Amino acid sequence: MPDEQTTTPGGDTGESKAFSPDIPFETPGFFLRGSASLDWGMKNRLSRIFNPKSGRTVMLAFDHGYIMGPTTGLERIDLNIVPLCDHVDVLMCTRGILRSCVPPSCTKPVALRVSAGATILKDLSYEHVGVDIEDAVRLNAAAMAVQVYVGGEHEHDTLENLTKTIDAGNRVGIPTLGVTAVGREMVRDARYLGLSCRIIAELGAHYIKTYYCEKDFEQVTSACPVPIVIAGGKKLPELDALKMCYNAVQQGAAGVDMGRNIFQADNPVAMVKAVCAVVHELTPPADAYQMYQDMCHQA
Ligand code: R5P
Repeated sequence: MPDEQTTTPGGDTGESKAFSPDIPFETPGFFLRGSASLDWGMKNRLSRIFNPKSGRTVMLAFDHGYIMGPTTGLERIDLNIVPLCDHVDVLMCTRGILRSCVPPSCTKPVALRVSAGATILKDLSYEHVGVDIEDAVRLNAAAMAVQVYVGGEHEHDTLENLTKTIDAGNRVGIPTLGVTAVGREMVRDARYLGLSCRIIAELGAHYIKTYYCEKDFEQVTSACPVPIVIAGGKKLPELDALKMCYNAVQQGAAGVDMGRNIFQADNPVAMVKAVCAVVHELTPPADAYQMYQDMCHQA
């Protein structure tokens, strides 16, 4: 068992590591980090998720109900979320919400939440894979999302959920999004997030969702051989959320998978447009916030 106090994300003692964040990760033959050796179907789905021009994505996460029920902003998916779908690159949701609320004429790629089994009333890490691969194919999923609790009580089970999903997805060409869930006892710092992201990548996930951390986030992205997108987390003031997006992409994130900071914003459509400007065009956060305010005043 390594000593946590002296262990870096790589498991070695000492803090100096050759992360070389200034040296771009080579992506020969395909625009996306770590994806050049994948099959055509995988690459095609990843090209629908990540914009091949910017290399980044804005995913709208609205899968929260599978653990939280009708949380603020998700009480009525038909009224609050469906109008946002045209403005984002990817939809992230459960199959229940997809079938019941999202029109099948919507052609946005879907990152299907496939792990489940616990709620906010219980131990969240006690999940299993709740969707079989045939149903993911039937729903035309562009990716499958699995939550992993590195260091959690059910770490082993969640890592097994991940690897089983990756194997099933590899058989049919659907990429897996590994989601780094952070248990209550864990600290969201570069050491923990770097450890978690790297483990998930080593097990074969095609891209990873994690949290942004103020210090050394570029070490998390540098040491991860596949793309990282950040979750938004709890609602922040809009300008702060835009700053977080900007800092994350400047430090190597390939976009965002954002929920509450979009659908709980005062004007969700304006917010999603501002987030897209930051992620795809690297618009500075102050300018994107001005855009947001202008759109709010016009509404
Ligand atoms: C939580 O249930 C999901 O994994 C969300 O998709 C994730 O936390 C991103 O949403 P938010 O930006 O609200 O944190």
